Amino acid sequence: MFIGLDLGTSGVRALLVSEDGQPSHSTEAAVPMAHPHAGWSEQEPADWITAATDALTALVAKAPDQVAKVRGIGLSGHMHGATILDHSDTPLRPCIMWNDTRSHAQAARLDADPAFRDISGNIVFPGFTAPKLVWMADHEPDLFARVATVMLPKDYLALWLTGRRVTEMSDAAGTSWLDVGGRKWSDDLLTRSGMAPSQMPDLVEGNAVIGTLRDPLAIDLGLPKGIAVVAGGADNAAAACGAGALREGDGFVSLGTSGVLLAARDGFAPKPDSAVHTFCHAVPDTWYQMGVILAATDCLNWLSRMTGATPAELTAELGDTLQPPGPVRFLPYLSGERTPHNDSAVRGTFLNLDIATSRADLTRAVLEGVSFALRDNLDALKSTGAQLETLLAIGGGARSRYWVDLLATTLDLPLDLPEQGDFGAALGAARLAMSGVTGTSPTQIMTRPPIAETIHPRADLRDAFTAAHADFAASYPVLKAMP
Ligand code: XUL
Repeated sequence: MFIGLDLGTSGVRALLVSEDGQPSHSTEAAVPMAHPHAGWSEQEPADWITAATDALTALVAKAPDQVAKVRGIGLSGHMHGATILDHSDTPLRPCIMWNDTRSHAQAARLDADPAFRDISGNIVFPGFTAPKLVWMADHEPDLFARVATVMLPKDYLALWLTGRRVTEMSDAAGTSWLDVGGRKWSDDLLTRSGMAPSQMPDLVEGNAVIGTLRDPLAIDLGLPKGIAVVAGGADNAAAACGAGALREGDGFVSLGTSGVLLAARDGFAPKPDSAVHTFCHAVPDTWYQMGVILAATDCLNWLSRMTGATPAELTAELGDTLQPPGPVRFLPYLSGERTPHNDSAVRGTFLNLDIATSRADLTRAVLEGVSFALRDNLDALKSTGAQLETLLAIGGGARSRYWVDLLATTLDLPLDLPEQGDFGAALGAARLAMSGVTGTSPTQIMTRPPIAETIHPRADLRDAFTAAHADFAASYPVLKAMP
């Protein structure tokens, strides 16, 4: 048996997976998030440990016989968070999270230096790790002077489990300090952001065994002694391992809180100007590219808060049959945008509201706006040379039939809906553990989930949605030009 331990933005999930790859039990424990100022998002690393302890002990209680057979734990987690430790590995401050935009000025400063895009293959986005450390140097110089190690969030859990300071390629790729093509730390980029190579953890591939579970912890948690701990992957890379997206042509679209359109790549083909993210995959010699929109189901959740109807009630009002594009347009930039605009200041809006506009019209506009933004992401990904013939559709939003029909038609690609079950980051983390412990090749273990149904684009509506997408795309420059 193997455990995938996923540190998500809202909580920790522990998933038990058997040797034949079947998930059997899972548990979850919440992690609080603090927003002490507008644009700030922080979590306490100690809360990750509390949640991981709760999730693991609950798993032991749920399936004691199976847990007794566990041979390895793999990790996955949210990316980019600056977890800052002193010389005794004690956090110096709360983690500055991926969705924290306080360091936008520092990000722009680093991004203006061409070395960052050249070596890291990516724009320095405000959410990435390097600008957060520059922000600390600017605003918290006393703490900055005491920084011994910068860890990524899930790697802090690995440090707790094993006592080792290690990260792996897929998470390191989101720091702006990695030579992403060469799969090594860039001393040059570290120096340019005021950091030293000695402040970085050791770097391994995601399916590497990094150590064994510390004995006292095994006793406390009720886990067997001597379990291997495997580095794992950043959440999107791990989700790709769970969804079997490892090779050129494989990809998924995720309608989660944020939206992700991901394509696995055999080689390193960066195109930073497109605002596409080009990162190392969690398996050796592989990369992936993705477009990220910062608010996907978050937009529907917002509408739900405004209207007092649940997201399911809102989408139910649209029925199951896809309609042509509605008259109202929605620009889904409620938290700013990454791909393709790289604009942390832009905000969302409705256009064309009429006295006759109904709640259902607003819902339709929100689902369309998010789908159009994902179409922008697909176009950006294609501009890098990524070939995508079909995509797996995952995430909570993919439960709405209307939304997946709309998305297939807007992207003009068939979407595969997996059968009910587990294929997320925690499964990917468990699969990485399995590969690390057994030595089995990732491609043998990381297969695609069984498909329940393929959703085809509606040919009769394709032209109408292409025209509406063009309208949508023309609205961003107008919005940006507004004072
Ligand atoms: C990716 C990104 C998010 C986080 C949180 O660049 O910022 O997907 O990993 O899930």
